[in-house]
Amino acid sequence: MLTLILAESSLETIPPGTNKNDTTKTPKKGKKTHQILDISLHSQIVQKLPNREKRGRPDIVHLSLLAALGTPLNKQGLLQTFVHTIQNNVITVNPQTRLPKNYNRFIGLMQQLYGLGKVPPKGTPLLTLEKMNLETLIKKLKPSQTIIFTEKGNPTKPKTIMNECAQQENPTIIIGGFPHGEFSANTLKLADKKISIYPEPLDAWIVISRVLYCYEEIILNKK
Ligand SMILES: C[S@@+](CC[C@H](N)C(=O)[O-])C[C@H]1O[C@@H](n2cnc3c(N)ncnc32)[C@H](O)[C@@H]1O
Repeated sequence: MLTLILAESSLETIPPGTNKNDTTKTPKKGKKTHQILDISLHSQIVQKLPNREKRGRPDIVHLSLLAALGTPLNKQGLLQTFVHTIQNNVITVNPQTRLPKNYNRFIGLMQQLYGLGKVPPKGTPLLTLEKMNLETLIKKLKPSQTIIFTEKGNPTKPKTIMNECAQQENPTIIIGGFPHGEFSANTLKLADKKISIYPEPLDAWIVISRVLYCYEEIILNKK
């Protein structure tokens, strides 16, 4: 089974101590708890944060999860997905999760997740949130190989690297869930290989679609 980790993802609640009134739009009544930081609404807050180029883009997590969960690979139970966030939370995503396609509904779900630690609150959780850094997650997963995809990696065709992955028992691929900037040194040191699939930066969900498709072609044709 392939593991996908969306790492250092730009998903978080508005950090404590920031002025929640620094918004371009006022949240609706009753929606003030566990507000998700979104640069299109909270640009003044994001501007004052460290690593600001990596903050306030929950839409990247939304699009990336839609791209991963909708693949035949996932539907056939051959993919497990985690979201590691910039504030060192890990969201475990049940492969059967059907995420809302609508962004506002996705944000509502994330607010609920940050509030309750799991969604839905009753029955088998589809999403669970726990405090955990990436290193701990990798230690728990014990991958046979960890590949980080980054524009600065070794230029390699997606087909070639995913073919190599398919020979592994328990491979993990890491893709950045942030808009700009680089992976931290702590993340990079977890990689067995750093791979670039194109000479320029691509959106995370494009990289996900391409590499999962290549892996799927190899794995599903073997069956
Ligand atoms: C918008 S990029 C973040 C920008 C960053 N400069 C980078 O590429 O590392 C989101 C993620 O997609 C993946 N990615 C983007 N361009 C890539 C490329 N040319 N080759 C491999 N992975 C790439 C990386 O995992 C990256 O963290």
